[in-house]
This record gives sequence, structure tokens and C-alpha cells, in this order.
Amino acid sequence: MPVLEAATARLHQELRSARAESDRLFSILTKTALYARPIAERHRVIFYIGHLAGFDSIQICREALGVKMPDPQLDTLFQAGIDPDSSHLPSDQPSDWPTLDQIQGYANRARHLVDDHLERAPEEVSIMALEHRLMHLETLAYMFHNFGYEQKNCHLFRQHHRSSGATPENSWRDIPAGEAILGKPREASFGWDNEYEEVREYVPGFRIQRFKVTNGEYLRFVKEGAPLPHFWVERDGSLFYRGMFEEIPLPLDWPVYVTQSQAEAYARWIGKSLPTEQQFHRAAYGNDSGAPTAFPWGNAAPRHELGNFDFKRWDPEPITAHPEGDSSFGVSQLVGNGWEWTSTIFGPLPGFKPHSTYPGYSANFFDGEHYVIKGGSPRTAARLLRRSFRNWFRRDYPYVYATFRCVEN
Ligand SMILES: [Fe+2]
Repeated sequence: MPVLEAATARLHQELRSARAESDRLFSILTKTALYARPIAERHRVIFYIGHLAGFDSIQICREALGVKMPDPQLDTLFQAGIDPDSSHLPSDQPSDWPTLDQIQGYANRARHLVDDHLERAPEEVSIMALEHRLMHLETLAYMFHNFGYEQKNCHLFRQHHRSSGATPENSWRDIPAGEAILGKPREASFGWDNEYEEVREYVPGFRIQRFKVTNGEYLRFVKEGAPLPHFWVERDGSLFYRGMFEEIPLPLDWPVYVTQSQAEAYARWIGKSLPTEQQFHRAAYGNDSGAPTAFPWGNAAPRHELGNFDFKRWDPEPITAHPEGDSSFGVSQLVGNGWEWTSTIFGPLPGFKPHSTYPGYSANFFDGEHYVIKGGSPRTAARLLRRSFRNWFRRDYPYVYATFRCVEN
């Protein structure tokens, strides 16, 4: 097979497995849960069944190829997601939405339309649709995390949890001064608009915690009066972790999932800071000998032995798992097992241009209210683990699989 055709075949295969992963994800929920809204700021679940299929066909068929669409009204309904702040919550009712049969019919027509035209679609548009779907697989997992266990088919999905029951000692690693490379050149491979262009920045030397901050470490802060993280629950004087499919005694050696505000307050409490986006890059991809690597462990493609990512698990692992994924400077789990909050407000890299057919993807969030998270969670797809990929959330949004580590400047 010629090289180009092989690449296209690989991309189509990736799109098919992302669809299968989406179907698997929605099958977690009972039927009644589909019209519910577990997070007040987001759409009801049902929207996303239409949105994932609709986005693909709108971008690939309508926008890129000018195909006449069979369901223009439903396209409009399912086109856009939302990001309201908590003072402007959506107020639609379940009865405002089409029935499940109507929405599944729409989604099936959209899938077939995409299949009929995928061969002719520009590669960039197909990748955009694929990555859009993969990103939603993660945000939907956060959302489904907040359903009661009785609304999920938990017995089909439960996994074995690993925890030593103790809090591992964190330690500090020296990161020497050097250059961090953020973003990538415009002529390089596919990226979202916020990944361009490449910028090289000198980062002075600093120290960073070897491990992500654990539930066990954060517990000391809670005992000093800090509020419980969203993922914890206290019952009869004992603390539990709200896992995706079951509650378990608080695993002290798992990374703590918290908001950026909580992470920053903890860092201040121990007299340290959160890393900047540049410092994260330096710790993760820098080394003594030459150019930054593609991943913390080097340039090899991600695989499950190197970290907790790419849909491997629903919940975290101990922060000591997978030392073979350590960075050149000996820092653990910089990719996977939970995104890491930075102190950097999300903004454009120099040379930023909004995407032509999706202009609001990043620019709508350059408002000083969103902070960069880096790395990846158990539900982050392998292809989104690339160095230039940037993710962002409001600092008090508690649902994200995001943790942190501290730096000393
Ligand atoms: Fe979307």
C-alpha cells in the first residue's frame, strides 16, 4: 500500500475505534440517565449523542466538501457545546429535546454520511473530527463520574484498584536552567489553533516535586481546615474516594484531584508555588544533553507500560506506578494519571491564528478566567498526549481529572 493510503487507512481505523469507544461510554448509563444533567453548567447527556456525530458530518461533509445535509435543523441543535459560568446556567427541560430514537436516527445518518465522504475529506479535517470526539470522551467521563452509581451499569465496568494504603514520601528534583519549547511550527503535523506557533523560552533553574501530590499529603491540609476535594466523601467519620463505579476507602497513594484554587492554596500552605506552563515543559521534556524529547520518557510512542492514559483505567493508580515513564530529570508521571494544573492563564502563543472553520475553539477562552493544564488523565487518548497539546479549565471547576505538584523557585 502506498504511504499516503496507509496513513489514510490508519486514520479511518482510529475514527472507527473512537466511535466504538463512544458507544461503550454511553452504554455505561441507564436509559433514564441520558436525559439528565449531572453537571449544572453542561448540557444534558442526550445532547452529546447528537453532537459527536453531528460535529463529524458538519465539519467533514458540509464545511469541507459542501455536501447537502439531510437534517439541517438537527445540525443546528447539535452543533455547539457550552461553557457558561455558574451564574448563567442552562434552563432547558428534558421535553425540549427530541426522543432517543430520533437522536439515534440522526446520529446514524450522520455516521453514514461521513463514511460515504471520508475518502475525499482533507486529512486535517478528519483529524480535527477524530480529536474532537476523543476530547469529548474524556469530558463525558468527568460528567458520568457525577452520576449516582444506581444510574450506571457499574458491574459491567468495575476494575481492580491498586493502592498500598500508605502515603509515599514525596521528594524534590533539581531542574537546571535551560530552554523550553512550547507549541510547534505551523508546517508541522496536525494541531489545534492554540498549539501554534513554536516558541522557545529560557527557563531559570528550579526544583519540582518528584511525584504528584497525593490524597495522603492533601489530607494533612484538610485536617488544617481546607475543604474536602470534590472526589472525596466523608461518611461516619471515615473518608472515601468517589471512584467511577464504586466508592473505596481513600487511597492515600493516589494523586489528589482538586481545582486550581485548591492546588494553589495547598502550594502556598507548604510555602511553594504551582509550576508555570514553561516549567512543566522543562521538567517533562528537558534534558541535559540536547533537544527536548517528545514525551517525558523519550521519543517512543505512548504505551500502557509507561503511564495511566489512553482509556486504560477509569480511576488513578498509585503515584509510584510506571517509573519507566519518568522524565530525564527523574520526575514521575508527568503524562497520565491526572492532568496537572499550572499557574499559567490560558492565552495565545505568539503567531496565534483562530481556526478557520472552528474560530471559537480557543479564542472564546482567552478571557483570563481559564488556566492551562498539562499532561493527561486515565481518560486522555494517546494522540492527545503530544507535547504541544494544551488543555484549559476555569480555576474553580471541580470535575476535571486534574491534580498538581509544587515547585520551589
Ligand atoms: Fe464539541
